Formats: sequence, C-alpha cells, structure tokens
Amino acid sequence: MTSQLHPDGTLRHLLTLEGLDRRFIEGLIERAQGYLRPRDSAPARSNALANVTVANLFFEPSTRTRASFELAAMRLGAEVISLDLHLSSRAKGESMLDTIHTLAAMGIDVFVVRDAGPGVPQFVAENLDSPTSVLNAGEAHLSHPTQGLLDAFTIIRHKGRLEGQVITIVGDIRHSRVARSAVQAFSTLGADDLRLVAPAELMPDAHEFAGCQRFEDLDAALPGADVVMMLRIQKERMTGADIPDAAAYFKRFGLSAERLGRARPDAMVMHPGPMNRGVEIAEDVADGRQSVIREQVTNGVALRMAVLEAVGGAIIRSRRPT
Ligand code: CP
Repeated sequence: MTSQLHPDGTLRHLLTLEGLDRRFIEGLIERAQGYLRPRDSAPARSNALANVTVANLFFEPSTRTRASFELAAMRLGAEVISLDLHLSSRAKGESMLDTIHTLAAMGIDVFVVRDAGPGVPQFVAENLDSPTSVLNAGEAHLSHPTQGLLDAFTIIRHKGRLEGQVITIVGDIRHSRVARSAVQAFSTLGADDLRLVAPAELMPDAHEFAGCQRFEDLDAALPGADVVMMLRIQKERMTGADIPDAAAYFKRFGLSAERLGRARPDAMVMHPGPMNRGVEIAEDVADGRQSVIREQVTNGVALRMAVLEAVGGAIIRSRRPT
C-alpha cells in the first residue's frame, strides 16, 4: 500500500487510520482544537494554504463531508473546486485515472475523494506524483478517516480522553465505514470497552472489529455506556430484500429516550449523519440535551482544517520561488 507519510514523517495522504500511531492522531486533534471558536465568534481563518488548490471529487452523495472539506480549505486560504460526478466527463465514460491526470495538469495539489468502490482513494494516490495529496472522504464500506477523527475529537472534548470510556455503537455496522474508522481511532487512543449492537445480518464478519463485544440486544449493551453512537441503515449497499422494516427495526434497535435512560446519565448521543429519524433514533433523542450530533458537524470543519494544514506543509515547501 502507498505510504501515507512523506520520508520526513509528515502526512502526505490520509487514506485510512490503520497504522497511524497515537501521537500522530493526538497531534491532528490538537491542531483541530486550535481551529475551534466559540459559537458567537467568527470562524478561525488562516493563510496556511495560500496558493494551494484543493479539488473535491465526490462520486457518491454527501452533505457534511463535502461542505466541511470545502469550508475548511477556504478558511485556510486555499483555492477550491468541487466536481459533480453527474456533470463531469466521467459520466461520458472517462476513466478515473484520466479524470485525475486532467485535474493534476491544472495544478491540483490535494484531491479529496469519495467513492462507492473499495480502493479508489489508494488507486488515485498511487498514480500521483509527490507531493500531491489524497484525502479519503469515504470509501465504500471500508474507511472514512476524517469521520473517525472528528468522532474521537468530539468525545475527547466532552470526556477528556478515550481511555476508560464505554462506547456502544448501534446499527448497520456491517456496511459502515464510519464504524470501521471510529473503532480504529478509538482503539488507537486507548478505548477498550467497545460494544457493537446490530441484528445478526448487519453484524460484520467475525474476523473484523477485533476486541469489540457484540450484542444483538440493545438494552443489554447500554448499561454503563458513556457514549452511544447510532448509525443509519446503509440501504445503498443492500439489495431490496435485505432492507429491514423501519418500524420493526426501531422497536428493536432504535434509540428512544426510555432506552437512553439505561446508559449513564451523562452519556453522549452521537450520529455521523445523515439521520433517519424514527428509524435508528427518536426525534427527541436526536434533538435532546445529550445529543452532540450538531457539534460533531462543527468539529468536522476544524478537524478537516487540521488535516488539510498537515498535508499542505510539504506542498508549500516544494514550491520553487517565482
Ligand atoms: N457523515 C457523513 O459522511 O455524512 P455525509 O455523507 O453527508 O458526508
């Protein structure tokens, strides 16, 4: 696999959290912390990415990740373009590689890539010259590294650390790149009581998620939980017959206020979005006092600023003076 680091140890690509060590992840979270501002203040801005060009290539729908990468890049002073798959020449049959080389020829420095196919961000990274960077913005069911980082960042802001936290992750874990990246981040940062809750057909294969406890009964996985992370059913990765009935699913796996009462009184409720209210989470829980769902979105911009700044350093150092 392509190395994610430059020879000097700085970040070149962010393709996966696998293999990134604790200090590295803590460093990114610390940088993100520096980009947060009080709600009634102007957003943090800098010129850290002046003369750097970022391209958002989202070949799958997105609201949060795409908008937050765009805002993060703009707030760092970068030039930003966002390509819409349906309006790009890929819809006319152009290969991914030709699209990438076309954009690289225009001086793109950072490619932010989301694709439903496994291995696409790695493939793009393998085909670009240094110091051009690739940031994985969601890869099939496999990886969503900036989401894992922003989730860890959000927990740290509330609980101070990951060590000792009981984290219950509920829903369609089999198809969830969010769960995979979150568990990688949480484990690297010291969490060791991770509970997965899903119906048998939405539970990942046994060789995955080593060290996590598995439950089919949500009520049994909530006592003692400091964090309850809800996930939506990823219908786009299922055939029609596999999709559970929404009402029956909510009854067994939906987070109602009554159910949340089984977790610790200060338990945080998280959801990466998009939410399906009334399917995996009740309205009053999604909007309730324990919910940090909107805060996750806010933290996502700061975290993505930190990641962009980290890859921007080598790009800026590589510039020949004009
Ligand atoms: N959490 C997340 O990836 O949301 P979007 O699909 O809206 O980007």
